[in-house]
Amino acid sequence: MSEYKKTENPFAKLFISGGVTIFFEALGGGHYFEMVKILKQTTNNSYATITKRMIANKGIVGILDGFVPWGALQASIKGSSFGFGEAAAKRLLERIAPDSVPKWQREILSGGMGGFVQGIVMSPMLLLKTRVMTDPRFRTAGGFIQTSIHSMKLGGELIRTEGGLMSLTKEPKKKKKKGHGRVFVKRFADWTTRYGFVVLVEHGMRKQLGLSEKQKLSKTQEMVSSLAGGTLSALATVPIDVTVSLIQQASKKGQKVSVFEIYREQFRSGGLRGTLQLATRGLVARVTHVALTVLMMKNVSSWCYSFLVDFTVKK
Ligand SMILES: *[C@@H]1O[C@H](CO)[C@@H](O)[C@H](O)[C@H]1NC(C)=O
Ligand SMILES: *[C@@H]1O[C@H](CO)[C@@H](O)[C@H](O)[C@H]1NC(C)=O
Repeated sequence: MSEYKKTENPFAKLFISGGVTIFFEALGGGHYFEMVKILKQTTNNSYATITKRMIANKGIVGILDGFVPWGALQASIKGSSFGFGEAAAKRLLERIAPDSVPKWQREILSGGMGGFVQGIVMSPMLLLKTRVMTDPRFRTAGGFIQTSIHSMKLGGELIRTEGGLMSLTKEPKKKKKKGHGRVFVKRFADWTTRYGFVVLVEHGMRKQLGLSEKQKLSKTQEMVSSLAGGTLSALATVPIDVTVSLIQQASKKGQKVSVFEIYREQFRSGGLRGTLQLATRGLVARVTHVALTVLMMKNVSSWCYSFLVDFTVKK
């Protein structure tokens, strides 16, 4: 019974993870690294040039351009859905299989489930965003605030005319295979990989330090495991991300070719060096973002949880 109490309450975790994610995206560099990654992938500018341009007009605040309100909303939904899914899966697994499934497997699976729930919640949002952007009535002319208000109105209209947000995800005719199935498969895979690498790093660290699996790591050691695990998982998924983006580029041009063809074409025109260069664009920003996100979701939100919830319950 006392064992149950130690797992986090999914609903409390929902709010705490959401809050932590907003804070991290706004002030911890999350939004900055995301923007830099995108600009790195779409221009040929260096990290220094990109940053200089960002802060040229408004100073440091310029980094937060475009964060309020859409980035903040997206961050809170991302963080809270993951936190809820992860905590719920952890609790469920601990109740139904406390002995048959080892702790490290429960850990990895709950990370994956967090990603799964995140994908389910995010996909109608992302779809709506795409629908709004591709709607012929959408225009980007006008200032930032005007554009935001316009896209909000248009989104509301689409939801109303199509009978609810969920019905947007159902597109029965041509998009059946595209769109919404993939988001949560990818999120599940992403987060399973992340938590998996963290477990590996932790295991290696314990071995190196001569600690048993039962002994607790220090806060610093936990942080190092999360950051290192996140870094390794981001590096491990580079080939997949590159392949996905190459396929998207090819299909944008209307070509329908195999993955093998795409790579062969790439090598032919750019050589090994060109392919690698293309593959590693924005890598530093991406790896940093993933490593910090793992730290936030795995440790910082749990620390906030024990500070806020355990503290109030004990009183
Ligand atoms: C970046 O440079 C490559 C060649 O070095 C060029 O083909 C490409 O158009 C450039 N991209 C942008 C966005 O300037
Ligand atoms: C922090 O992360 C480490 C490694 O990822 C993990 O073992 C530990 O349980 C986490 N700490 C908390 C309080 O969740």
